[in-house]
Amino acid sequence: MKKNNIISILPLAEKIKQIEVFSPEIARKIQPGQFVIIRVHKNGERIPLTVAKKTPATGILTIVFQEVGVTTTLLGRLKPGDALHDIAGPLGKAAEIMYYGNVVVVAGGVGAAEVLPVCGALKSKGNTVDVIVGARSASMLILLDDFKKAGDRLFIATDDGTAGDKGFVTDVLKKLVTAPGSGGISLVYSAGPVLMMKRVCEIAKEAGIRTVVSLNPIMIDGTGMCGSCRVTVSGKMKFACVDGPEFDGDDINWDELENRVKLFSGQEREAIKKLNDKK
Ligand SMILES: Cc1cc2nc3c(=O)[nH]c(=O)nc-3n(C[C@H](O)[C@H](O)[C@H](O)COP(=O)(O)OP(=O)(O)OC[C@H]3O[C@@H](n4cnc5c(N)ncnc54)[C@H](O)[C@@H]3O)c2cc1C
Ligand code: FES
Repeated sequence: MKKNNIISILPLAEKIKQIEVFSPEIARKIQPGQFVIIRVHKNGERIPLTVAKKTPATGILTIVFQEVGVTTTLLGRLKPGDALHDIAGPLGKAAEIMYYGNVVVVAGGVGAAEVLPVCGALKSKGNTVDVIVGARSASMLILLDDFKKAGDRLFIATDDGTAGDKGFVTDVLKKLVTAPGSGGISLVYSAGPVLMMKRVCEIAKEAGIRTVVSLNPIMIDGTGMCGSCRVTVSGKMKFACVDGPEFDGDDINWDELENRVKLFSGQEREAIKKLNDKK
C-alpha cells in the first residue's frame, strides 16, 4: 500500500463524507485534539482536518469532512486508489486528557468528528461523559453509533426536530447544567461553529463550569509562521495551530474570531462557483 492512498470514501450525510487514508506514521503518533493539514493535489490549498479515528495496526486514518468549498469538494471527488498529494501532521497540541469527573461534550455539525477522539480519551480516563450532538436535521447527524460507544448518555438536538430535541445543542446543554443535581459537572468540551461555541461558553460560565473549546480558524501553514489562525486569548495573541487548537473558552475574544473566519468569504464563494461552473 502506498503512503497517502485512499482506502475508502463513503457518504455519511448530505455533503459529509468519511475518508480512510493510509498514513502509518501519523496513525502511530497522532493524539486526540491534534489535526493534520492535507493537500489534495500539487497546486492545491492546504486545509486542516481532524483525524476522527485511527488504527495504528493498519496505518489507517479516518477523516470526516464536510464539503463546504473548493478543497473539500475536490477531496470528496477522490476515489479509492487515488492518493492525497500530502498530509502533514500530527499538528497542534494534544488535548488535555485527565480525570475531571463529569464532563459534557457538545458538538455541532461536523464538529462531531473533532470531538469524537477526545470524548473516547476522556471516558478512558474514568470520566463520565455525556455527549450532546446537534445538526440541522436528522439526515445531517453523524457518528451517533461511535458516540454511543465513546461516551455515556447521548443527547441529540436538531433544528427541525426530526431527531432528538427540537432546537439547538445549547438548549440541551442549558437543561443539563440547570437540572437538579447537575452541580457535579466539572467540564464542558465543545467544537463546532464559532457562534455555537461562544454560546456554549456563556451557558457553562453562568453555571460556574469551565469550558474548553477546539477552535477551527482559517489555517494555512499550521506551523505558527503565517499568522492566519491568529486568535486573542486572555488579551494575548495566540496561534491556534501551535498554541491550540484547544483553549479555555472563557478567555477567547469571540467577536474578533467571528470576524476573522469570514475574512475570505467573498473569494471562497467565487472559487466554489468557478469549480461548479467547470463541472
Ligand atoms: C484544527 C481544525 C480542524 C478541522 N477539522 C475538520 C474536520 O475534521 N472536518 C471538517 O469538515 N472540517 C474541519 N475543519 C474545517 C476545514 O478545515 C474547512 O472546512 C476547510 O478548510 C474548508 O476548505 P474549502 O476550500 O473546502 O472551503 P473554503 O472555500 O475555504 O470555505 C468555504 C466555506 O467554509 C467556511 N470555512 C472555511 N474554513 C473554515 C473553518 N476552518 N471552519 C469553519 N468554516 C470554515 C468559509 O467561511 C466558507 O463559508 C477543521 C479546521 C481546523 C482549523
Ligand atoms: S496556520 Fe499559519 S500561523 Fe497558524
